[in-house]
Amino acid sequence: MEDASLPQPQSIEERPGPIFRKLLRFDVVDSTSEAAKLLLGQGADEGTILVAKRQSAGKGRHGRAWASPPGGLYVSLVLRPEPQQVAALGLLAGIPVVKALRHHGVFAGLKWPNDVVFMEKKIGGILSEGVYRGDRFYAVVGIGVNTGVDLERLPEDVRERATSLRREVAGTVDNDDFLEYMMGHFEDLVSRFRMGTGDRLLKDYRGLCTTIGREVVVTTPQGKVAGRGYDITPLGALVVMDRAGRKTEIVDGTVEDVA
Ligand code: BTN
Repeated sequence: MEDASLPQPQSIEERPGPIFRKLLRFDVVDSTSEAAKLLLGQGADEGTILVAKRQSAGKGRHGRAWASPPGGLYVSLVLRPEPQQVAALGLLAGIPVVKALRHHGVFAGLKWPNDVVFMEKKIGGILSEGVYRGDRFYAVVGIGVNTGVDLERLPEDVRERATSLRREVAGTVDNDDFLEYMMGHFEDLVSRFRMGTGDRLLKDYRGLCTTIGREVVVTTPQGKVAGRGYDITPLGALVVMDRAGRKTEIVDGTVEDVA
């Protein structure tokens, strides 16, 4: 019997895979990632994609809200990596998003760890979470992209630092086309990740990362670190080098570019 307390998708579609074989479509949910967590093992398992037309309580990194008006792409992917792989997976998840944006005419990059940016403005973001159900460990990778978002519908403080595909390129973008293109690259990413080709994926990430080579200040839980973005470690930490050549590895923080 249907459990009314669980989010009910509008439709459930089979996909060719090989990894992502099920697509749950929602009109509105609080958050596709929260919906995924509620449905783990009860309609959502490894290889499930949840997509919503809008979110009423979209979540960003560090407990921030993710404004989710209609027109944007709000997606969560369910995977079952090892717990220690979640951080790297979340980082690498930026690659398919950037590829899809570039395919649609916006030459985006990744600001460490995984803000998707174009001309210093944020156009997408990724929130990767690990969660246990019993002894089964899942990763829920949430992706938000300002595809067809009308920037006027974003809160003022967000609007100043944000852009959208709709703003940057002529013509409209179909979210389903965008999703399909992006998922093609996700299939490839996850297959390569599983084969253990993480070092090559990290090279791909470095190539797309706008933080490398930039003068930055990173706000971390331990304080601020200033210097030049120098490298990304195999576990996804950012290495910042100061003027004296001292290197600091940062696992969590918010990067600001120094003008
Ligand atoms: C960030 O840059 O702060 C991460 C934003 C992640 C937003 C996406 S939208 C789909 C999924 N559901 C959520 O509530 N958050 C993620």
